[in-house]
Formats: sequence, structure tokens, C-alpha cells
Amino acid sequence: MDNVIEYSKDNILQKENEEVIEKDVDDDSDSDDKEEEQDVLFPVWKKNSNGCGYSIDVETPSLTKLISAVGTRLQNGKPMVKILEIGVGDSHVLAHKFLNDIRVQVTFVDPGSNFDAFPQSNESSFRYIQGYFPQDLIVNGYKDEKFDFVYSSRCIHCNTPQGMIDTIRTIRNFLSPVHGRFVLETTGINSDFYQQKAKLVEYFKERKDDAYPGLITETEFLKHWPKWKVGAVTLMDSSERLRNMLYDAGFKAIEHEEKYRMSNHEFFVIVGCNTEETKNITNTQFDEVLYK
Ligand SMILES: C[S@@+](CC[C@H](N)C(=O)[O-])C[C@H]1O[C@@H](n2cnc3c(N)ncnc32)[C@H](O)[C@@H]1O
Repeated sequence: MDNVIEYSKDNILQKENEEVIEKDVDDDSDSDDKEEEQDVLFPVWKKNSNGCGYSIDVETPSLTKLISAVGTRLQNGKPMVKILEIGVGDSHVLAHKFLNDIRVQVTFVDPGSNFDAFPQSNESSFRYIQGYFPQDLIVNGYKDEKFDFVYSSRCIHCNTPQGMIDTIRTIRNFLSPVHGRFVLETTGINSDFYQQKAKLVEYFKERKDDAYPGLITETEFLKHWPKWKVGAVTLMDSSERLRNMLYDAGFKAIEHEEKYRMSNHEFFVIVGCNTEETKNITNTQFDEVLYK
């Protein structure tokens, strides 16, 4: 079920010491891959101001999917579409996209974002929560709030597998019944950042038959990145494993799955549905849900 899509030339190099360097793009390099030329994505990776990871300020496949689905719902007569973005970092993609559309309410939650630098407009209905999901949503009075879409990219993998499943289960509680969609983008085991470490590759090999071969325990992580305090990290090795996580967390159906590469990082995208009523919706029907 994995659709593997290769995006972009390797124009960015992410260093172990948390800096991001833009390499010169070699326009003369091989490029015998026509598909790659058609679909070139040039991501801008930015270091978050508080050092809490990186943000990709470019429309990635999961964001394209989300933005298209929001547009369809509006066209189908939904007066307002509510999105919750968990761990937005300093990615301004949704803020730019819906800056002048008061019908799209985006709630951004992240302890490390510089929200003052987000695009501003009187025509937008954005909410900014400087804090953690879910506790700071609850503190701010949004405990029972339901969203049409919850979107999260490169955020919840800094966790054990069970911690990820628990977070996904909590996310499900914030989704509208029936039409709520969880759009998740998460990091794959075959990202260069991890594969460049020979000892970590050995570690993955030793665990290839484990329930989660991409789990890097906190102790193991510190061996390779002694200054980082991220705890355990769970990398995906297949769409099936991610799908099972969503099912374990209570999602009833999966609407879309995709795997893609960008700047030599591997990402998995998945869209989960909240109720069984949506079980028969296929990928192609994803954007065709009608709102009366
Ligand atoms: C690697 S950055 C990804 C940023 C952006 N989503 C992207 O894909 O470019 C991860 C972000 O998740 C945030 N984060 C981590 N745990 C979080 C939580 N429980 N609730 C909200 N944000 C969280 C971090 O502060 C950081 O900004």
C-alpha cells in the first residue's frame, strides 16, 4: 500500500550539532530521473528559535492533502473548518494559506514556536497556544473542543511506541465524530540523518524482528547525540506499522497512506478516520465528503 514518492534534490544537509546548512544545488548533476525533475520540492528547514527541533516551511504532501480537503469542505458548504496543528514549530504554511480566509480557523499549539513572527491579518481566525498538547489545550479551556482536522508533522515520534499510541488516542478525542480526520506525517527509519550513524544501523539490524525496529531508546539516542534531550524516538519502517498504531489508538479506518523522500529524509503520511461509518471511503473519495 506504500506509495513511494521521491521529492527534491539533496540540497540541504542536516548536521548532528543541530545546524542546518544549505548546499549549492548542482543543476548539472545526473538528473536522469524525470519524475524527480517534475516534482522538485526545495524545502527550507529552519531551526526553531528555542532549539525545539526544526520546521519545514514548505507545502509537503500531507499539507497539500489537508489544504485540498479543507477547500473541498468549504466548497461543499461547510461554513467553518476547524484545524488543530500540533507541533507547528515555525512552519508558516497553514498560516500563509488561510491568512485571508476567516472561514478556516487554525489553532496552533507548540511550546517552541515564535508566534509573533507568524503572518498576521485581520481576516484570519487563528488561535495560538504557546504550550504542549494536550495539557495546554485543556488549561486554555479547549478540553471538549472538536476539530475537523488535526494535523501533526514530525512531532509525535519523539516518544516510545506506546507513548505515540497514547498521544494518537488523545488526538482522536479532539476530532469531530464521523467527518474528523487526523493527518499525520512522521519520520522514517531510512532517513539519512539516522542511517549515517554506522552503529545505529547495527542497532536497527539487531532489532529487525522487534515489534518496533525503529525504536531508539533514550539510552541509545544519547550514545549518538549526547547533548540532545529528546527521550526515546520511534521511527517508522512501514506504513503497516503506522497504520496499526492508529488502529491501536482507536481509529476505525485509514483513508490515505503515502511514503515520500525529501532532502534524503523519509516520511510517512497517514490519514485516519474517527468512526466506522467512514470505513468504505477510499483514497479517491477522500475529498468528496459532502456537508449538508
Ligand atoms: C521537528 S519540529 C517540526 C515542526 C513542524 N511541524 C514541521 O514539520 O516542520 C517539532 C515541534 O514539535 C513541538 N512539540 C513537541 N512536543 C509537543 C507537544 N506535546 N505539543 C505541541 N508541540 C510539541 C516542538 O516544540 C517542535 O517545535
